[in-house]
Amino acid sequence: MPEFKSVRGMRDLLVEETKQLNFIIEKARETAKSYAYGEVTTPIVESNELLCAKTSDEIRNRMFTFKDLGDRTVSLRPEFTASIARLVSNVLKKSPRPIRVLSVGSVYRYDEPQRGRYREFWQSNFELIGSNKPEADAELILLTNNFLNKIGLKNHFFKVGHMGILKGVLNQEGIIEKTQTKILQLMDKKEYAKAFDLIDDNSRSVLESLVKITGKNVFDTIEKIKNQLDGYEKAKNAADNLKNILELVAESDSQLKSIDPVFSRGLEYYTGLIFEVQIPEFDISLGGGGRYDQLIELFGGLSTPAVGVAHGIDRLNIALQIQGIHADDQNIKKVFVIPVTTDLRIRALEISEKLRNSGIFVEFEVMGRKVGKALQYANKINMDYVVLVGESELKTGSVALRDLAKHEQITIKIENLAKKIRE
Ligand code: HAM
Repeated sequence: MPEFKSVRGMRDLLVEETKQLNFIIEKARETAKSYAYGEVTTPIVESNELLCAKTSDEIRNRMFTFKDLGDRTVSLRPEFTASIARLVSNVLKKSPRPIRVLSVGSVYRYDEPQRGRYREFWQSNFELIGSNKPEADAELILLTNNFLNKIGLKNHFFKVGHMGILKGVLNQEGIIEKTQTKILQLMDKKEYAKAFDLIDDNSRSVLESLVKITGKNVFDTIEKIKNQLDGYEKAKNAADNLKNILELVAESDSQLKSIDPVFSRGLEYYTGLIFEVQIPEFDISLGGGGRYDQLIELFGGLSTPAVGVAHGIDRLNIALQIQGIHADDQNIKKVFVIPVTTDLRIRALEISEKLRNSGIFVEFEVMGRKVGKALQYANKINMDYVVLVGESELKTGSVALRDLAKHEQITIKIENLAKKIRE
């Protein structure tokens, strides 16, 4: 047999990394609770047709797609939004609005593997469905900020834009949707010259002026954008909508760093606000989202406005490492229990269970090692305490408790053991 390795682009997440990811996921779930999002679980495998609709060529061309045994063309989900839109278009058609849902899990994209870019990665995905009000858009930014504060990240900031600005101009200039998609993709990659080649002089001059806009703050930038949009009413309304959303966020501690009128996030379903979040030390998007008011209708549902965000759990983990922040389990005491002789295993297991039931982390000596060797191991794996279950102490209902950091050992009654460890 050959020596097997994980498939290129796929990772084995070992204990520490899984612990960090779970810490972030737990915080996403806490955030969901405090914003009233209920968690749903959808399949990892979906119809390829569903996943291809209104996504982007970049995602379409990078899906893990195969025929199942029933000859259906299916793919591993590259994101959650299509699955949730599918749910809302049928199963949840009649649910009272708004619908707020969280999904957590792995998603798959055949990206070129590099730091922060994997073929299997984890997202926490929040969708708020049924409202077209700026309060709904603002909620997704506030929720993202709250979540990142909860995991302990510092100095994160938002880059914000609005699809209605560019689309408003391009629609008014009569540019067909397919060409619009191409232009938006090129502009998002800052390939302006190539994008401008696809349009006439009139629209070109507006887009050129939008590209050049910079501002002191986000509201100043919005005013400058509006000044360039005379005669383009829909695009102007989009800029006003962005202003209304950001006014609702401005009083929070969410840092709104920049507005980019030609930013488009590369996903075709966005119709309104779009945003991404980053930290200064790591030039990559840690999460991103936006409004998509036409996707649910496209899937055969009622016309339903929606807005959402997905956070890249793996990238957040890297961001925490860069900032020197670790999953906080410092307060959980770790105890190693050693039966001094084999015939005391049952009593030692009994004591271990008692400690576990009172919330203490217990590792039991299962290798049958002698006390000396077992102690060496307990030190090596950074246990806080060792409980030695020996014949002579048991006669008085006691065990020996060794504090590994202080190098102290006491004899203690079993009924007082948990309390002492927790101190
Ligand atoms: P997205 O921007 O494609 O949006 O992905 C969201 C986040 O997933 C990114 O900001 C990034 O942190 C992470 N991510 C993307 N690709 C990779 C990768 N190859 N390796 C590691 N992490 C990655 C969406 O997925 C939309 N569904 C968000 C949304 C929800 N919009 C509305 N509702």
